[in-house]
Amino acid sequence: MLKGHTLVNNLTLTNIDGGYGSVRVLHQLSITVGFGETVVLLGSNGNGKSTLMKCITGLVRPDSGEIVLEIDGERTDLVGKTPEEVVTAGISMVPEGRRLFPALPVEENLYLGAYRKQARDKIVDNLEFVYETFPRLQERRNLGIG
Ligand SMILES: Nc1ncnc2c1ncn2[C@@H]1O[C@H](COP(=O)(O)OP(=O)(O)OP(=O)(O)O)[C@@H](O)[C@H]1O
Ligand SMILES: [Mg+2]
Repeated sequence: MLKGHTLVNNLTLTNIDGGYGSVRVLHQLSITVGFGETVVLLGSNGNGKSTLMKCITGLVRPDSGEIVLEIDGERTDLVGKTPEEVVTAGISMVPEGRRLFPALPVEENLYLGAYRKQARDKIVDNLEFVYETFPRLQERRNLGIG
């Protein structure tokens, strides 16, 4: 593993209330995503799954509650942060569907993920980390993905 990459993290939501004006969607929601865990949200349409993701990513501000991201012992309260600040803190949302650029090769698609200044500055290290983690991408780095 490369030095400097995040290895220990967790996300804790506590007593989140949130919604859209008078439409109350989340009621005292608490959930923890621990280190190495995969957590799945299941629910019927209109159940609040996307609203919860929007609260985490800063697109919807919860009315109350805490969202704390802990990375290598450093805690950041995400409530009130802009989506850009949430990304900088270490959270990214990958929407359903691939939303990739099929005309571009694998490596150029990866470059497009580094559009923020902090990411551009670390692009060489990050690319190495990605290829170490997913060697198949390195083998195919000059191939199109369409
Ligand atoms: N921008 C909005 N303004 C007002 N109400 C909204 C808005 N977006 C979602 N809602 C309402 O909030 C509730 C939760 O919707 P949400 O999109 O979070 O559900 P979901 O679980 O993601 O549903 P789906 O499975 O269809 O994706 C629903 O009653 C929905 O109508
Ligand atoms: Mg949804």
